[in-house]
Amino acid sequence: MRKLFLLFASFACFSFASKADTLSVFSPQKLQELKIFLESDGQIKYAVAFKGKTIIHPSALGLRFKKPEATLIKFALVSMKRSKFDETWKPVWGEISKIRNNYEELQLNLKDLAGTDILLNIIFRVFDEGVGFRYEFPRQEKLNHFIISDEITQFHAGADHTAFWIPGDYDTNEFMYNTTRLSAVDAGSSSMSQEIYAKTFFDKNAVQTPLLLKTDDGHYISLHEAALLNYPAMNLVIDKSRFILNVHLVPDAIGNKAYLQTPAKTPWRTIIIADQAENILASKLILNLNEPSKISETSWIKPRKYVGVWWEMHVGKSSWDYGATQSASALVPHGRHGATTANVKRYIDFAAKHGFDAVLVEGWNKGWEDWFGAWKEDVFDFVTPYPDFDVKGLSAYARAKKVKLIMHHETSASVTNYERWMDTAYRFMKRFGYDAVKTGYVGHIIPRGEHHDGQWMIRHYQRVMEKTASYKIMLNAHEPVRPTGLHRTYPNFLACEAARGNEFNAWSVGNPPEHETILPFTRLMGGPMDYTPGIFRIKVNQFDPNKKEQVHTTLAKQLALYVTMYSPLQMAADLPENYEKYPDAFQFIKDVPVDWDDTRVLRAEPGDYIIIARKKKGSNDWYLGAITDEHPRNFSLDIDFLDFRDYIVTIYKDGPEAHWQKNPESYQIEKNRLFDRQGRVQRRLDIQLAPGGGCAIIFKESKKGDQTPKINEPNRPKIDQPLKKEKLKDKTDN
Ligand code: NOJ
Ligand code: CA
Repeated sequence: MRKLFLLFASFACFSFASKADTLSVFSPQKLQELKIFLESDGQIKYAVAFKGKTIIHPSALGLRFKKPEATLIKFALVSMKRSKFDETWKPVWGEISKIRNNYEELQLNLKDLAGTDILLNIIFRVFDEGVGFRYEFPRQEKLNHFIISDEITQFHAGADHTAFWIPGDYDTNEFMYNTTRLSAVDAGSSSMSQEIYAKTFFDKNAVQTPLLLKTDDGHYISLHEAALLNYPAMNLVIDKSRFILNVHLVPDAIGNKAYLQTPAKTPWRTIIIADQAENILASKLILNLNEPSKISETSWIKPRKYVGVWWEMHVGKSSWDYGATQSASALVPHGRHGATTANVKRYIDFAAKHGFDAVLVEGWNKGWEDWFGAWKEDVFDFVTPYPDFDVKGLSAYARAKKVKLIMHHETSASVTNYERWMDTAYRFMKRFGYDAVKTGYVGHIIPRGEHHDGQWMIRHYQRVMEKTASYKIMLNAHEPVRPTGLHRTYPNFLACEAARGNEFNAWSVGNPPEHETILPFTRLMGGPMDYTPGIFRIKVNQFDPNKKEQVHTTLAKQLALYVTMYSPLQMAADLPENYEKYPDAFQFIKDVPVDWDDTRVLRAEPGDYIIIARKKKGSNDWYLGAITDEHPRNFSLDIDFLDFRDYIVTIYKDGPEAHWQKNPESYQIEKNRLFDRQGRVQRRLDIQLAPGGGCAIIFKESKKGDQTPKINEPNRPKIDQPLKKEKLKDKTDN
């Protein structure tokens, strides 16, 4: 680990020059340039250029306070400091095992010019991938407690870029993506979101971050935030006349945005810029802007694969509640309860047989009979099992089978209630051997009037991360705020939902085939997602022939998602009986790891396709996932990353007639050797993806004594073929 911290000249100048002064900071390899304009009236603007081309045009900086009343947009520069930083650190788990954090920093120490004398610092970090900046309020005589009413930060896009967006909202991020010009964003028109119960629309020009923009000349811009703590989440409101994106913070119950006390700091605002989409996905800027792990002893934190009493509720086989649905008065069993002792044992047996680490059980505790939609405060107590769930017996059974149980804490968004129960609930978990919890926040928040993404809830999510860590419990949150890289600081925070997951395919219009080609460019920029892939029974009418819903995928694509949709926590979401029908395809889910030494983004285009290869932690084995949207696509891939060892290659691919709608469960499996019988090495691999399809590949280093697999001649990838031109459909046609 190399750490270098050079302090450059720090100097004082008490007022700006008469005309605008410009400061410039280049990234270490000079790919990005941050420009700061110190205007003669005291305003400060910033701009960002990538390889010499301005991508973010001069954009305003500042804040408005409600108390003390102040508008901080004109400043005197008190002093400034330049420094650089270069360090390589090791994440507890991740896509790569070593991350370089290398940037040039500029800190502006400012004083309000409008008479309050408030001191404010703005810190900019310029990386080769982009820029991060934040406001800091140092301890000072004239400012102690203060209330923020607005942040005036802008991102001036400067042109009508294509945006991959979901509507701005204070409570949910479970929308389908829209791909339109900035000028065509209409957050109010989102008719696809009717199935989201708790949502709070506020402006038809508002979008959420992570937002991905694509310019007409092929630049990609990702806007988001890092280290969101003690502050509300940010939405962006588009000024369509100038293509400026204005920060809009989520308010609290009485309309204020943030309550702070000096010394204080805001989250980082992040801008990642690339001229290749692959580099957006490879960026570690957001993680690097987060603080190092606060957990020093991390051996108990383990990436894992799990199954669960879960999908069966979503497809209508069983239910969460034990009886008397939505009526607290009587607890009469209806016979369809999912979390029964016998059923959980069945899942434990299945997990043990197939090598899964854990079993999630939802609907185990009292409260589900009256949990939804009533804005009721005392919903669950998190310690009272239903009469047919033997928590003691099951924990012994799971322990004997070397399988962990994953606790489920649906809070029904009654967060005051959860806060009161947390310690008791975590102690209960430890007593029965649970070391991981899935939380959930379905509904309107209590304290009433607060929002999922406001400062009050952001503080709650942090308390949960810290408290679970203190009990050595790993965390997976559903319906939380979108992640901002905090899993660096709290590596027990393995994953979260915070987007439209696979479950929507079970009971709504679902997720179109392009959805998973957009998520890594947007939601996953902030952190891993518990997307719950692995559905093999694609049409979900198994328990109700009238059900029309289906997953918008081929079976092979569900396998590829384990590689393209990075998470240290991956579910095999389908029912054991559906996996047992396809044991050969299931083998991929059993084999695929959840922790990696290396990652290569081979091809990617938002809304169209993603191909990623990853190297298993502590091994020379590689796994590749390729997915497409509704269009079929062919690729000829360079597989040089394999170092030409002797690999057995197992390819799980769409069948020749596979199609996400017409023939989703058609797949083929091929086995080859990377070296052919004459010892010639295969350098390229051709893959074909069906409409809505995918391909998953294992490159397993062959051990002495491995048999040369039987070659499936007609489909055998070609040896040493020249690169064929990809047959790509017009990317503009969605
Ligand atoms: C929504 C979550 O995303 C889902 O995973 C869970 O099963 C239900 N809420 C019930 O808590
Ligand atoms: Ca598309």
